[in-house]
Amino acid sequence: MQNFRTIKGTHDLLPNELIIWRAVENFIHNIMQQNGYGEIRTPAFENTELFVRGIGTDTDIVTKEMYSWTDQGGNTLTLKPELTAPVARAYLQHQMGNQNPIHRLYYIDALFRRERPQKGRQRQFHQFGAEAIGSPNPEQDAEIIALAYNIYKKFNIQDMSVRLNSIGNAEIRPLYLETLRSSIKKIEMELCTTCQTRIEKNALRLFDCKNPHCQELLDQYAPFIYDSISDDDRNHFEMLTRILKEMEIPYFHDKKLVRGLDYYSHTTFEITSSVLGAQDALCGGGRYNGLIEQLGGKSTPAVGFAAGVERLILAINKQNNLSIPPDIYFIHLGDEATVTASKIANDLRLNCGKIVVMETLRRSLKAQMREAGRCGANTTIILGEKELAESKIIVKDMSTGNQNEVPISELSKFISSNS
Ligand code: HAM
Repeated sequence: MQNFRTIKGTHDLLPNELIIWRAVENFIHNIMQQNGYGEIRTPAFENTELFVRGIGTDTDIVTKEMYSWTDQGGNTLTLKPELTAPVARAYLQHQMGNQNPIHRLYYIDALFRRERPQKGRQRQFHQFGAEAIGSPNPEQDAEIIALAYNIYKKFNIQDMSVRLNSIGNAEIRPLYLETLRSSIKKIEMELCTTCQTRIEKNALRLFDCKNPHCQELLDQYAPFIYDSISDDDRNHFEMLTRILKEMEIPYFHDKKLVRGLDYYSHTTFEITSSVLGAQDALCGGGRYNGLIEQLGGKSTPAVGFAAGVERLILAINKQNNLSIPPDIYFIHLGDEATVTASKIANDLRLNCGKIVVMETLRRSLKAQMREAGRCGANTTIILGEKELAESKIIVKDMSTGNQNEVPISELSKFISSNS
């Protein structure tokens, strides 16, 4: 008798794994809603044409990876390989643009791509993501990048790198692609066969090639699209980087970051972590100002990101950190301070919605400090007898190491506005 097993590239999730899955999903629902994003769910399958038109005919997803079929009624359907096109379709179908000039939407959902399975790459996988539809401005790009970055920060993911670029508006592309093709024509035969086929079909994707020799040749001969973008688009990018610096989000301007889906314009970004190994992309996203028009709506600017849930969980597991890091670790020393600290911790949980972990083993200051670092709290609060006598409390930002002495009566206000 045949033994049935899961299809290659798909996995069962068993109760012990689902404990962490549920915690991660709850956390993402909370953080998205705290940032003003509303949940959207779209069907598991759509008309194939939505993805062909949205993602692009010559992309890897459309040419090689979609699960498509014709149903008994002759409709050509596809299991969704990504969610930006379905969200844009829903935005148009429900005329959301008429209700409000800006929509902030988020999702957590299962997706399907027929890729070669390996660690961190499945054929059925899950993404969480956010799409902000309506604003053309760089502060909206910054909000999206910060949202993604802060989620990973909250999970204490190590060795992260934010790669950022601008590919400008769609109008500059034909001229740029012509220049690109003519610059690499002379070395065409030295490129790998995949790159050779990409030159005519989808030359921008040359930059995605993993072959180091191709990359060396591109470094030497290929012009970067960033160097062709308009002054307005450059100003947009500069304003975005200014905001990211102000938000203390470290980024690297990677002029080769073009992303593999055709709907992008202007900003593109990816967050990677070396913790993941070969499939190191935690998430990716960017602007897609042309997509909604491409799908039959009026021109509407939009920006978003999507992130692999399996990859986030892989990174959390690799770091042996199965728990969600608290917002605040509360260190206290001495009986009187302990009584006051218990009340303050309770108030912070109830009034500021913070995850607060309080020391209850009465360990030494040094041991409590070590625990605060180990659990990945963003902020540590310290209340000793000296501080209590002065009605003050020490608030330490664990990422910068900066410390402030804050009057106890103003702590809730300080925490709400600084974290
Ligand atoms: P993407 O780069 O194709 O972008 O996917 C985003 C993330 O999904 C990747 O960085 C990775 O973490 C995860 N991912 C993709 N494929 C797989 C797979 N086969 N197995 C496991 N994880 C995977 C998009 O999907 C765009 N829709 C992102 C976006 C949203 N752009 C604007 N808004």
